[in-house]
Amino acid sequence: MAATPKDASLYLRVLENMEEGVIAIDRHGTVVLHNPAAQSCTGLSEKQVVGRHYLDLFEKQDKLLGLINTALEKNRSLFNHEELLLTRPNGEPLPVRASLSPNFDRQGEPDGVILMLRDLTQVRELQEAIHRAETLSMLGTLAAGLAHEIKNPLGGIRGAAQLLGMELPEESPLKEYTSVMTREVDRVNDLIEELLDLARPPSPRQGQVNLGRMLSDIVLLQRENHRPRQVDFQLQLDPSIPAIRADEKLLIRLFLNLVKNAAEAVEKGGRVLIRSRIGSRFLYNRPGEKPMPLVLIEIRDNGPGIPREQMENLFTPFFTTKDRGTGLGLTICQKIVNDHGGFLKVESEPGEGTLFTVSLPMRLPPEKRDH
Ligand SMILES: Nc1ncnc2c1ncn2[C@@H]1O[C@H](COP(=O)(O)OP(=O)(O)OP(=O)(O)O)[C@@H](O)[C@H]1O
Ligand SMILES: [Mg+2]
Repeated sequence: MAATPKDASLYLRVLENMEEGVIAIDRHGTVVLHNPAAQSCTGLSEKQVVGRHYLDLFEKQDKLLGLINTALEKNRSLFNHEELLLTRPNGEPLPVRASLSPNFDRQGEPDGVILMLRDLTQVRELQEAIHRAETLSMLGTLAAGLAHEIKNPLGGIRGAAQLLGMELPEESPLKEYTSVMTREVDRVNDLIEELLDLARPPSPRQGQVNLGRMLSDIVLLQRENHRPRQVDFQLQLDPSIPAIRADEKLLIRLFLNLVKNAAEAVEKGGRVLIRSRIGSRFLYNRPGEKPMPLVLIEIRDNGPGIPREQMENLFTPFFTTKDRGTGLGLTICQKIVNDHGGFLKVESEPGEGTLFTVSLPMRLPPEKRDH
């Protein structure tokens, strides 16, 4: 089909809206086009880039320079399987996947190359979440096996301690010991129940959950619990989020754990901000369901942050840095989020604070689904 002026504006719109970064380089090596997605990849504006030579633009980025050179020399398409790290003037290096195609002019003569960049940040995050989910289900199965073995003897110990307590005269000081025994056995039992929860197949009781109300209630409770430390809880709720289909009990547990962690992390007078919004970038797509938006709930604190070396252990059962912690909180959070088909993401800057983001598919309760 011949290109009409209307097509030209359409091409422009496509280039402006596509997720891939597109950088066109002419046969002399000068950048002639740099679309908005490329700007967010390189961290440079169109003005800063167009007209410059690609050797200046990607200075010291040998892998990428090698690819552009080859594509320019051979006039052939190139797809790089490996991930590249794109250096940016300010900000962290960005993981990208690059591909290149030769560009031909109207006479069919080669006129440089088109470099396409795909930002892999989101893909990396998803892969990490999937990896965590897999590790978790493996650990859950293992723990469940062990837990079953422990539960029976525990029952025996508890029973014996109770019998012993009944045998002892009322005024005996030893009675204190028997009650310590039962209490501690109960504590271990609770722990085991939590471990068994990790191994249970996902069966969230799908009710109707008003996230805003749930988060407000949790904050009310936590504000009271942390009053002596004057923790400043702030809520920013998006009122347009509808009630979603989810397991209310599990979600309370999830957000309570996260808010509690944040409140425990901050200093006296510290801040915990809870924010809900509807994700605008992606639709959640799963076979058999309509594509739907994600609801994002962020729990942000201005505590000490999490040291980098601890980041990968956070979701491991029993990992804790607290004297009285079980280290099961985040493991359970991960399981609840998985069971709802969502994602859990953590970002932390030591010294600045921590941000946990829960993304849940916005499944509507049955009666409202088709409205
Ligand atoms: N918001 C946060 N800021 C800093 N560190 C955190 C934060 N959330 C979690 N952590 C770290 O992750 C560890 C594991 O958290 P998790 O909730 O699994 O267990 P816990 O809080 O230690 O114990 P429990 O949840 O049983 O009270 C914590 O001990 C803490 O070191
Ligand atoms: Mg915790």
